[in-house]
Amino acid sequence: MLEKINNLLLEVEAFTANTKEQVEEYRIKWLSKKGEVTALFEDFRTVPNEMKKEIGQKLNELRNKAQERITELKEKFDGTEQGSNNSEKDLTVPAYPTIQIGSRHPLSIVKNDIIDIFSRIGFTVSDGREIEDDWHNFSALNTPENHPARDMQDTFYVSLNPEMVLRTQTSSVQVHIMERQKPPIRTISPGRVYRNEAISARAHCQFHQVEGLYIDEKVSFADLKQTLLYFAREMFGAETKIRLRPSYFPFTEPSAEVDISCTICGGKGCNVCKQTGWVEILGCGMVDPQVLDNCKIDSNKFKGFAFGMGIERIAMLKYQIKDLRLFFENDVRFLKQFTAV
Ligand code: DAH
Repeated sequence: MLEKINNLLLEVEAFTANTKEQVEEYRIKWLSKKGEVTALFEDFRTVPNEMKKEIGQKLNELRNKAQERITELKEKFDGTEQGSNNSEKDLTVPAYPTIQIGSRHPLSIVKNDIIDIFSRIGFTVSDGREIEDDWHNFSALNTPENHPARDMQDTFYVSLNPEMVLRTQTSSVQVHIMERQKPPIRTISPGRVYRNEAISARAHCQFHQVEGLYIDEKVSFADLKQTLLYFAREMFGAETKIRLRPSYFPFTEPSAEVDISCTICGGKGCNVCKQTGWVEILGCGMVDPQVLDNCKIDSNKFKGFAFGMGIERIAMLKYQIKDLRLFFENDVRFLKQFTAV
C-alpha cells in the first residue's frame, strides 16, 4: 500500500494540464467517490494498527497534495478564461510600449527646426561635402593663400593632399551651388564643419553650421535683415529682437554679426548675455561681387545675401545647454531629456 501511495504522490507532483478539462479528468481520477485516493482511504481500514500512523500520514499528504494541485491548475485556467471572455475589456487602451522610444539628438531637432522655418519662406536645402578643396572652402570666397583672414579659422589639412581640407565652414556649399545653378537661388545648407581647436566647453574640433544664400536681381540689405528677424522670432519667440553690428567676413560686403535679445532675461541683463541683454547668433552680409564673379554669376545683374550660423549655438540658447561637449558625448542621461521634443 505504501508503494501505491508513493507512486501516486509522484504522479500528483509531476502533473500538469493543458486544458481545464484535463484538470477535471484528474480530479475525478484521484479524488471523486470512485477515485484512487478515495479508494486508498477505504483500504486504510484494513491496515494493521501498528502501521496506521505511518500510512495515515502519507495518505493525508497525498490527498492534500492532490487537492492543492487541482485547485492551483483550476485557478490558472479560470483566470485566463475570464480574461479572454471579459466583454468589458477596453480594446482602445494603448499597448504597453515594450520597445523603448528613442529620442532625437538635440542638434537634429534644431537643424530640422531651422529647415522648417526657412522652407516656409521658399528656401531649399542643399548638401555639400565635408572634405573640400581649397578653392571652395577658401579661394572662391575671397580668401586666397596667405590672406590673413585664413587665420580666422584653424584648418585641418588632408595630409595626403594639402590642397584638400576638412571644410571649416558651410560657406563652401555656396560656391558649389552658384557654380552649378543659375539665379534666382534661395537655399540653406546644413552640415558638419571642422576646426583645429582645443576642445572645451565653448569650442570643439567639430561642430555644425547652416549656411543661407539668396541671389536674385534685386536683393537688398533690408531683405537680409527682415529674413533674419523672421528667423529669430520663429526660433526664439515672437518677442525676440535682433540687432546687427558691423563686422568683417572676406566673402561679404558689407558684413554684420547678428545678436538676438537674450532668451534668458529678455534683454534685462544676466550671466548668459554677460549683462548686455544681447547674444550673438550668426554672421551675415551682402555677397561680395567678386565672389559672384568667381562663380560665374554676373555681378552687374545679380546681388545676394548670405548668412551662416552654428547649430550648437542655437541649440545651447534654446535649451540652455552650458557645455558644447555634451553634444558629442552621447550620454543617454543628456539625450533622454529630448524624448518627444
Ligand atoms: N562662414 C562664417 C564662419 O564660419 C559665417 C558666415 C558669415 C557665413 C557671414 C556667411 C556670411 O554666409 O555671410 O564664421
